[in-house]
Amino acid sequence: MKQVRATRYVTPLREGGSLPGIVEADDLGTYVCKFRGAGQGLPVLVAEVVVSELALRLDLRTPRLVVLELEPAIARYEADEEVQDLLNASLGLNLGVDFLPGSFGFDPTFQVAPDIAARTLWLDAFVANVDRSWRNPNLLVWHGDLWLIDHGASLYFHHAWSGGITDPARFAVQPYDVGDHVLAAHASGAAAVDAELAARLDTSVLEEVLAQVPDMWLEPRPGADSPDDVRAAYVAFLRARLEGGRAWVPGRAAA
Ligand SMILES: Nc1ncnc2c1ncn2[C@@H]1O[C@H](COP(=O)(O)OP(=O)(O)OP(=O)(O)O)[C@@H](O)[C@H]1O
Ligand SMILES: [Mg+2]
Repeated sequence: MKQVRATRYVTPLREGGSLPGIVEADDLGTYVCKFRGAGQGLPVLVAEVVVSELALRLDLRTPRLVVLELEPAIARYEADEEVQDLLNASLGLNLGVDFLPGSFGFDPTFQVAPDIAARTLWLDAFVANVDRSWRNPNLLVWHGDLWLIDHGASLYFHHAWSGGITDPARFAVQPYDVGDHVLAAHASGAAAVDAELAARLDTSVLEEVLAQVPDMWLEPRPGADSPDDVRAAYVAFLRARLEGGRAWVPGRAAA
């Protein structure tokens, strides 16, 4: 991932549960910053990167990501105390999501192309993303296209890794509750693209995806001492879910 340095904190994005903010960087880009100090921890940033990279490999649109370096000077001149605390807790490497100016939130009148809906639903089921509901679709419409954002609530198995890497067997077969998904009507489409999408994600592709995650966000755990060990654990979990019969694919049971 490209690394840039934050030059100015512009404003908080009040809608976001994790208090993301708009930040300008030294490449003249404007980014939505997902702060490492936001309380949900580094695994959330890992999930953002992994799912974004998977989305790109499934030909879905999602904003470009960068590593956003935050220096103490940014916090020093911040007047809002809550924001200042967050900035101070986030010095170092954060996640920057390319800001899509003039985008608007997904609403039911937007006609999603069936193929894009099917692939989005399949991806969310694969990574167990629970954050694509009607209440909180985390989809933007920009220049007439659908853009996927906010993937931190995926791959939740990693929240159980503090005592050591767990067994992938459970995630391999974990069902996906499609009932709440904003694109649930496209479940049969997701079943129809299953074989093609699963075939695209072979082990070398999964390894490429994990290679995009910065070492600093891959915290060592018992049994996974190095960033590469942690990457291998993610690859093992994703492989297990692809190879475990795929009963989690929406629409599959009905087909
Ligand atoms: N790249 C972007 N371009 C434009 N707007 C964005 C972008 N990313 C996020 N937003 C806006 O900011 C809001 C909050 O962002 P996001 O959903 O990523 O944060 P969050 O804290 O994880 O949110 P929540 O937990 O509430 O879903 C989005 O709903 C969207 O309106
Ligand atoms: Mg969101």
